Amino acid sequence: MTTEVTSEVSVAGLEKSYGDLPVLRGVDFEIPAGTIFALLGSNGAGKTTVVRILSTLLGADAGRAVVHGFDVDSEAAQVRESISLTGQFAAVDDILSGRENLVLVARLRRLKDPGSIAEDLLARFALTDAGDRRVATYSGGMRRRLDIAMSIIGNPPVVFLDEPTTGLDPERRIEVWKTVEKLADQGTTVLLTTQYLEEAEALADRIAILHQGRIIVNGTLEELKRLLPPVEVEYVEKQPSLEDVFLALVTGEEQA
Ligand SMILES: Nc1ncnc2c1ncn2[C@@H]1O[C@H](COP(=O)(O)OP(=O)(O)O)[C@@H](O)[C@H]1O
Ligand SMILES: [Mg+2]
Repeated sequence: MTTEVTSEVSVAGLEKSYGDLPVLRGVDFEIPAGTIFALLGSNGAGKTTVVRILSTLLGADAGRAVVHGFDVDSEAAQVRESISLTGQFAAVDDILSGRENLVLVARLRRLKDPGSIAEDLLARFALTDAGDRRVATYSGGMRRRLDIAMSIIGNPPVVFLDEPTTGLDPERRIEVWKTVEKLADQGTTVLLTTQYLEEAEALADRIAILHQGRIIVNGTLEELKRLLPPVEVEYVEKQPSLEDVFLALVTGEEQA
């Protein structure tokens, strides 16, 4: 049993292999309540594996994960009640309108007044005008926003967004970012996975880089940038970008 909650998400010594392939080799991190945490890593780094373990869809080989005060192994049902998970594969129904999708989920979760829940979410996710159109006619960004809206019905305290903007063009990506920022403003704790450095840079309170099965660095953007000395370019100091930091760390690891 868990006693006190220090972080909304707490991960210690997480290990996972698929057959002979070790993917997580001891992953540790904490996410304070109401913050946005970006788990940054290349394709295949193990980001989805972490999210699946935290959302109780997959068991870890070793280590411990606590979400909203509940252990993902021994209190899986309570964890599932505390979270929502949005993946790259939108769970929205094409034949229904945006509004109908939202009402359906609210009904499934047995909430009172599904109609006004849908209305409110359409407004919050800038979908009011499109609310009565079939989802089949939505752009990629609109579908992604609807997917996130559906996942937060019932106000789960912790939201996992697994690569929420992969495949979207830059404009649509920014629309989704605004949505995520609003979630955190309302006190929701967000774990976001991304391959996009600028996404982590734009959104996250803290950024952790997952590489070769471990978190090789974890800090605020400012802390990460301080890992590299500023470069002197014609006597003008240039601060390193997150991309410089990422490349320096990831390349350094590979040489080690
Ligand atoms: N069910 C599975 N069986 C075997 N290998 C898997 C399975 N799921 C993921 N993998 C492998 O584990 C590694 C990490 O995958 P994943 O967690 O999806 O990474 P990411 O989300 O960072 O792209 C990849 O090499 C992937 O091919
Ligand atoms: Mg993934």
